[in-house]
Amino acid sequence: MKRVITFGTFDVFHVGHVNILERARNHGDYLIVGVSSDELNYSKKGRYPIYSEEDRVHIIKSLRYVDEVFIEHSLELKGEYIEQFNADILVMGDDWKGRFDNFKSDCEVIYLERTPSISTTEIIEVVKTSRIK
Ligand code: CTP
Repeated sequence: MKRVITFGTFDVFHVGHVNILERARNHGDYLIVGVSSDELNYSKKGRYPIYSEEDRVHIIKSLRYVDEVFIEHSLELKGEYIEQFNADILVMGDDWKGRFDNFKSDCEVIYLERTPSISTTEIIEVVKTSRIK
């Protein structure tokens, strides 16, 4: 049985998120997802997520591709999380390509292509700039 782990903020949940989780799960038999804490997201992206970490965890837990969810508190702890959750495969979107190659001695590292033309940032921008006519 292969255990897959992946990480992300998954704010304002969209189809790109579904696609990566579905494909990550298909690389193994059990999918563990580390959801970035609100504080981690602030330090990574300079803003707090629209959805709280509790709601983001709740959404990710409800998906059929996902078996286990935890809150990721620090980017520095990836190695510890991989070990703690006994992961055989680390899946990341290719926006992180090469960045986690140092874990190749602990597990298989796979970068999956992002779904084109959609991101949380873009959705927030569209909502912000749209006007009710
Ligand atoms: N992802 C993807 N395709 C997209 C958007 C995201 O495959 N179009 C993947 C990312 O590569 C990552 C996971 O979904 O592995 C969570 O990404 P996250 O950063 O939470 O989503 P984004 O939409 O990229 O958010 P932002 O615009 O805030 O960076």
